[in-house]
Amino acid sequence: MADQGHDRDVVDVLTADHREVTDLLVDALRSGETDRRRDLADIIITELVRHSVAEEMHVYPAMREHLADGEQAVEHDTEEHKEIESTLKKLEGLPGDSPEFDETLRQLQSTLADHVQDEETDQFPQLRASVPRDTLVELAAKVETAKKLAPTRPHPSAPNSAPFHKMVGPGVGLVDRLRDKLSSRATAD
Ligand SMILES: [Fe+2]
Ligand SMILES: [Fe+2]
Repeated sequence: MADQGHDRDVVDVLTADHREVTDLLVDALRSGETDRRRDLADIIITELVRHSVAEEMHVYPAMREHLADGEQAVEHDTEEHKEIESTLKKLEGLPGDSPEFDETLRQLQSTLADHVQDEETDQFPQLRASVPRDTLVELAAKVETAKKLAPTRPHPSAPNSAPFHKMVGPGVGLVDRLRDKLSSRATAD
């Protein structure tokens, strides 16, 4: 039983993250409740920043090392992370009932879909082909640990979760505060 958990490799973990955030975006766009839309947006922001920082910390270095076009792929992916994050920064300050809220979610949906497509059809298969399975499983654990350095998100069905908002606070500055929290505990410089 325990073995099954350990058998997930880093591609399984990252792909599950992609699915989760993609679904949350659909939920946020579909919901008619302003507060819930805003809460879902905060969860999306938290999940995407945690995912991106964990990739940059542990996965992109492995891509750089093992992929034939690693340097280029990492540069491209990092640019896309920056684009995603600038959209998240726009999103963090928007009221859930503003027209810009939907517009920004759709923009995020499109940028994220491109990025996920690049990783899942190009870089992740190459990683699996060129990195020993043991290492991919170790990387999965490292990614999970890196993500835990930021506050855990509340369950989407429990909006307005007090501990979540107490820990990170809602609204403007969420992206930067999360990135700071994640990076300061994981890097020396
Ligand atoms: Fe990713
Ligand atoms: Fe990524």
